[in-house]
Amino acid sequence: MRKKIVAGNWKMNTNLQEGIKLAKAINEKLTTKNCDCGTTGVVIAPPFSHLYAINEVIDSDKICLTAQNCAAEEKGAYTGEISAEMLKSIGVKAVILGHSERRAYYGEISETLLKKVKLVQKNGMKPIFCCGEKLEEREAGNHFKIVENQIKEVLFELSAKDFENSIIAYEPVWAIGTGVTASAEQAQEIHAFIRKIVADKFGQELAEKKTILYGGSCKPSNAKELFAQKDIDGGLIGGASLKADDFFGIIEAI
Ligand code: PGA
Repeated sequence: MRKKIVAGNWKMNTNLQEGIKLAKAINEKLTTKNCDCGTTGVVIAPPFSHLYAINEVIDSDKICLTAQNCAAEEKGAYTGEISAEMLKSIGVKAVILGHSERRAYYGEISETLLKKVKLVQKNGMKPIFCCGEKLEEREAGNHFKIVENQIKEVLFELSAKDFENSIIAYEPVWAIGTGVTASAEQAQEIHAFIRKIVADKFGQELAEKKTILYGGSCKPSNAKELFAQKDIDGGLIGGASLKADDFFGIIEAI
C-alpha cells in the first residue's frame, strides 16, 4: 500500500506567533500518529524563520516538519542561504524543492534542483519534488512532455534507492492559488502518466510504491474526489493549509 500524505505549504505567510498558533492547532487536532509510522503522513512546511520554534511545539511522530527550500551548496560564502545540514540540525525531515514559484520567480532550473535534491538526501531528509505545466503549455498539448522532462532531469538522475526516498508532487501552475482545480480526471490522467514513466525507468514495483501528490487549489470540498483517484496519493496544499480547520478537513478526506 502506498503512503498517503497531506502536506501544507505555508509559503511566505504568518508571522512567528501566528505560525506557532497554527502549528499547535494542527498538532492538537491530530489524534493518530501521522508521521512516517502510519499509512498517512501529515506534513507542514512553515517559513524558515519558524522551523526551530515550531519543532518545539509539535509532536514529531504526528507531524513531519518540512522546509520550503534549501541552498544548492553545502556551506560557505553564500549570503542569505540556508543549507540542508542546517535544516537537518533543527529537526527538519523533508524539503519541498522545485515549486513552480521558485522556478518562476527565482530562476530555479533542473541543474540546481538536482544539487539540492542530493544535499537533502545526503542529510537524511526527503525531497518533495514539484513538477507541473503552465497554462499555455497545457493548451498547446505539451503538459506530458513538460512534466516528463522536469522529472527526468532531476529525479531520474538518482539511483533507484535514492529515487525511492523522494515524493513527487504534481502541481499544474494554472491551478496554484487560482481557485481553479484540475478536474479529478485531468489530475488522474497525469498522475497515471507519471507512474508509468517511473515504471519504465525503475520498474513496476517501485512505481506502485511511489507517493504522488496533487497540488493546486485543493480544499476540503474537492479533496475527497481528487484523493479517490487511483493514482493520487494525497495533496500539497497552499492556501487551505493556513487554516487549521480547512487543513484538517483535507486530512480527513484522505
Ligand atoms: P494552493 O497552492 O493550494 O494555494 O493552490 C498549492 C501549492 O502551491 O503548493
